[in-house]
Amino acid sequence: MEGYNIGMKLEEQYKILYFKDLGDERGNLVVIEGEGMDIPFDIKRVFYIYGSDDTVVRGQHANLRSEFLLVNVKGSSKVRVNNGSESAVILLDRPGMGLHLSPMLWKDMYDFSEDSVLLVLSSLHYDGQEYIRDYEEYLRMVKGERK
Ligand code: TYD
Repeated sequence: MEGYNIGMKLEEQYKILYFKDLGDERGNLVVIEGEGMDIPFDIKRVFYIYGSDDTVVRGQHANLRSEFLLVNVKGSSKVRVNNGSESAVILLDRPGMGLHLSPMLWKDMYDFSEDSVLLVLSSLHYDGQEYIRDYEEYLRMVKGERK
């Protein structure tokens, strides 16, 4: 994986998406279909984070292979994405808004509102081996240096 994303601009590594809302007088209904329909990947895993608050920082890792789609289905949170050269902060505060993340992005989730429910769709099943949790190691990988 050495030099995996050398030369890729951060703006090419994440995307903010808006999903169709099929709501009517009965309430709202947001649909996210995988496999290139609403998001680029086939959904293999779903998890959600709630009960966090503005004192915690979650994430703090990169993934070798997984793609993710993050949606604050309730409340809000912020996501900082970093590719070792550039970073950006995205506010997730609408149930119809998603953040698509390519593999090998370092990410922090923070500033959770008390009512935050952060839904995460993933392209792969959980595999702890594809998580990079050491930032120095991550920097060595994206900068193409030997360990
Ligand atoms: P962690 O990666 O720290 O969560 P986050 O990225 O949301 O901050 O995961 C917390 C624990 O849960 C850790 O022991 C790994 C485990 N876990 C799974 O077993 N499966 C999963 O799909 C996820 C996301 C985490």
